Amino acid sequence: PSIATRGQDLHGRTVVVSAGGTREPLDPVRYLGNSSSGRMGMALARAARLRGARVRLVRAHTEVATPSGVDVVDVGTTAELDQAMSAAVEGADLVVMAVAAADFTPARTATGKIKKDRDSGLTLELQQTTDVLARLGAGRSGGRPTLVGFAAETAADPDRLLELGRSKLARKKADWLVLNDVSGGKVFGSEGTAVTVIGSDGSAVEAAGSKELCAHRILDVVSARSPNADA
Ligand code: CTP
Ligand code: CA
Repeated sequence: PSIATRGQDLHGRTVVVSAGGTREPLDPVRYLGNSSSGRMGMALARAARLRGARVRLVRAHTEVATPSGVDVVDVGTTAELDQAMSAAVEGADLVVMAVAAADFTPARTATGKIKKDRDSGLTLELQQTTDVLARLGAGRSGGRPTLVGFAAETAADPDRLLELGRSKLARKKADWLVLNDVSGGKVFGSEGTAVTVIGSDGSAVEAAGSKELCAHRILDVVSARSPNADA
């Protein structure tokens, strides 16, 4: 359907979108972070809002404008994201994790700026952060809310991309995974994108074009049915 014919099809639903990228501080002026402008997440939040949903946006260092009419919670680190998501998913129908969450955090954050020590390098000790999506997937019952993850992968070919996606989807116990091929610096910060939405029911739907258009296509697929519900 065209954007115009979708109307208010998400009226009465609560949609949670996380967008941007989390950052883990090393010291007061440096961080470990991810390349994510938040454009895709914002496009999803805007599309869901336009289609009548109540939208909760969990926003991590985004670089693009936030649509009006959405409830916003700002987070910095993956630990903060985890906390904010726990609250945001209460009573939600659909949760879309478009955020690029930092996988590792420094074992220690220096209170003062880390200084160069003559010619030597620097070794950092990192710890894994909580996998928020996997935690949400493991913690829900009755297949609610519908869970959608994103995965930016660098794969040698489309088959390998799907294979990576299928195992990630299963590992996270989510319903849908939006796959992005980011080989060669494609996608990040750009206007357009190309995605494959894979479902835990074995389905795969491709979409390409503006992030706005892809956002609507993604919502079409994931709002139509929840592969883990009923049956
Ligand atoms: N994600 C999350 N919490 C994390 C890391 C990732 O919730 N600590 C979510 C992302 O928001 C995304 C999905 O999990 O929706 C997949 O993220 P991705 O980075 O592709 O998966 P990882 O399990 O971190 O695997 P990889 O080693 O490939 O980065
Ligand atoms: Ca990751």
